[in-house]
Amino acid sequence: MRDALGHEVTTSSRDCVAALDATQESYLGFRVDAAQHVNAALKADPACVMANCLKGCLTMLLSNAGVLGAVDQRIAAAEASAATATKRERLHLVALKAWRVGRNDEALAAWEAILAEHPHDLAALRLAHFSYFWTTGDARRMRSSVERALGRWDPAMPGYGFVLGMQAFACEESGDYVEAERQGLAAIARNPADLWAIHAVAHVMEMQARHGEGASWVEAHRAATAEATNFKFHLAWHRALFLLEGGRIGDVLDAYDREVRDLGSPLVAGQPDLYIDVQNAAALLMRLELLDVPVGDRWTELADKAEKRIGDHVVLFTVPHWMMALAAAERWAKTDELLAAMRDHAARSGASEADVVARVAIPAAECVRAHRRREWDRALSSLFPVRHEIVRLGGSHAQRDILWQVMADAAAHGGHMRELRQLVDEVTRSRPPRSLPTLYRRAGQLLAT
Ligand SMILES: [Fe+2]
Repeated sequence: MRDALGHEVTTSSRDCVAALDATQESYLGFRVDAAQHVNAALKADPACVMANCLKGCLTMLLSNAGVLGAVDQRIAAAEASAATATKRERLHLVALKAWRVGRNDEALAAWEAILAEHPHDLAALRLAHFSYFWTTGDARRMRSSVERALGRWDPAMPGYGFVLGMQAFACEESGDYVEAERQGLAAIARNPADLWAIHAVAHVMEMQARHGEGASWVEAHRAATAEATNFKFHLAWHRALFLLEGGRIGDVLDAYDREVRDLGSPLVAGQPDLYIDVQNAAALLMRLELLDVPVGDRWTELADKAEKRIGDHVVLFTVPHWMMALAAAERWAKTDELLAAMRDHAARSGASEADVVARVAIPAAECVRAHRRREWDRALSSLFPVRHEIVRLGGSHAQRDILWQVMADAAAHGGHMRELRQLVDEVTRSRPPRSLPTLYRRAGQLLAT
């Protein structure tokens, strides 16, 4: 059997292959029915290695230590059939097994090995894209990966638009905003519901401070998110950032309550604390508070969730956000537990980013906690020396900026003008001077006095 892009699939079930094609299309499109399609593939052929691997990967994408047992079941089922599988399918299994235990560098190597021979394997391409983004923070590698594959695609092939969307995002994170917008618009012209491409263009607008245009951009594409996963809440977060920088504070709080913290997606039934939702929510509340906007008791529900996720390091960038919630709710004993769990993970996990936990994630969490306690010197001294490694936590420029804002705020309150100037100068390098977020512009005024 061959899938829609010509890859051999080890199964005798046409229904299984059709469902795998549908799974891939839904996954790339951030649609909630991806789980439904992969379940249909497994029902058609429970032994199919690709179906088990894709189901395992979709489960891993929930980025929750609580679902790893379900991933293990998929790995066991795939291994039972691996002897008769193709090399490509076996490499998917190698990648899933490595990802499961946090050996993300090995998972990336396996996906790249697939792409070297099968550049049209959209699942491998998108999973590698995801991993470069969240586990390496290396935009150059992310861009190189997608461009290597793109050169071997025919624009007439189904799914080509998704590759353009990935390239758009990789270009944006590399600072190539013109190319990012061009490729993003080209992807959307092919598929108006390509949320990753819509998102890439929103990032360009964020970095270029096109606030009014950005808010309208997200609103104009709201209809495309009707069948979307929680990623639609991340787009709502981007809209909230545009509103925030446009000074529309009332609208930001309204967006927070109705869209950003919205947990109504079927994807998170039974898991109401998806990593991206938490990152969105915590970072937005922090940004509001840094601009002296009271947020009431909105931290409480996040802190409740944070307590339950202490010790979960599947997506490292989330952990400082858990700390934001615990510290904001002044649950200091829990902040100690969170730090202790991070130290333990750094020492014993064997994850490929274990050293990053020790070098960057723990300082970031300590910075956030000290900032909340108004220990300005400590907040700055913990993270400022390693600030250029924050990128290793993963996430986008727009997302990581919250940690820079916390440092800048600590520097301003603590009277550390030299460090404050350095931070503002460094942020200015990635954005046009007049497009700095409000907090840095305030800091700039402080430095001028
Ligand atoms: Fe984003």
